[in-house]
Amino acid sequence: MKLNIAVLPGDGIGPEVTAQAVKVLKAIAMEFNHVFTFEKALVGACAIDKMGSPLPEETISICENADAILFGAIGHTKYNNDTSSTIRPEQGLLGLRKTFDLYSNIRPVIAYNDLLHKSSLRMKQIKGTNILIYRELTGGIYFGDKNFNEDGNAAWDVCHYTRFEIERIAHKAFKAALSRKRKLTLVDKANVLASSKLWRKVVLELAIQYPDVELNCIYIDNAAMELIINPKQFDVILTENMFGDILSEEASVIVGSIGLLASASKGDKYVMFEPIHGAYTKAANKGIANPIASILSAAMLLDHFGLDEEAALVRTAVNKSLQLQITTPDLNTKYDHITTTKVGDFIEDFISNPNETNLNFTNIHIGQSTII
Ligand code: IPM
Ligand code: MN
Repeated sequence: MKLNIAVLPGDGIGPEVTAQAVKVLKAIAMEFNHVFTFEKALVGACAIDKMGSPLPEETISICENADAILFGAIGHTKYNNDTSSTIRPEQGLLGLRKTFDLYSNIRPVIAYNDLLHKSSLRMKQIKGTNILIYRELTGGIYFGDKNFNEDGNAAWDVCHYTRFEIERIAHKAFKAALSRKRKLTLVDKANVLASSKLWRKVVLELAIQYPDVELNCIYIDNAAMELIINPKQFDVILTENMFGDILSEEASVIVGSIGLLASASKGDKYVMFEPIHGAYTKAANKGIANPIASILSAAMLLDHFGLDEEAALVRTAVNKSLQLQITTPDLNTKYDHITTTKVGDFIEDFISNPNETNLNFTNIHIGQSTII
């Protein structure tokens, strides 16, 4: 298969982790005789610095001409307390989502058996967790009217949704549930918010078309608690933009590190694959960023194009790295100095030589004779 992939590494740890995902995709192309081409473009704080815009025209046109976008991370701490700035790196990411109408953001949350002890939650509670979060990505409070009044002492953000916006992602979530445990949970705040009332009304109406899916509707505050008390009760979660942002980051606690959570952002025409974590400026260029979220986002890219065997091999390689503890310091306790690149190298090599023994891999990649 020929795929032209736009690579938008972005800021902070984005370039380091994205480089590992590209390396993995190249190894897959080699193994399976595909032709993947990669075209890099600027987005976020680095794009502001170099081009004066967080989402330059050139980046938009590279994405437009690509089959898929691989996104890294955006943001810079220098913007954190600068509330007067009208231009921010985040506009790059939000602009991409809006420009390409990437309305459905799919975030898998899977508790790996090898990492259960890394979570701050109890093992028996999280073992077996497998949730798919459908986060609406192009509407709601992120994109509604927002402003300050004249004297700057009042501000507002409007949370606006239309039936159309809710229906299109709800259909996707119902269909996803049909191919899984057939349970869908709508998370909203329909006891208070008008926009949530619309979500509940529309989703309850659609449920009639999916009699085989068990639909539950719960409030966001309750969902935030249930998610960490008993995550196994959830199969597919459907929710609006901001609730999905918060809930998915909370869900990373179940998995053990936010550095593991991948996502796919899909519209009807364009697709983008992005880790759920941010730029983590402090960790940039130290080799400590976990590349697995980016690598698993690349696996979701392969899924999207029906490259099932290829995606499965990437996941097997990732599982192997977790099992052998060839992981960055956010997860690793056994070996020191396993860098972002080393994790990427291990996964790349596993893809090229899936039948090598564990020991060989450990020795080659740790490169420490004391371990043998
Ligand atoms: C995410 C991020 C973004 C969001 C930020 C960087 C704008 O937190 O993808 O979850 O809020 O959507
Ligand atoms: Mn987030």
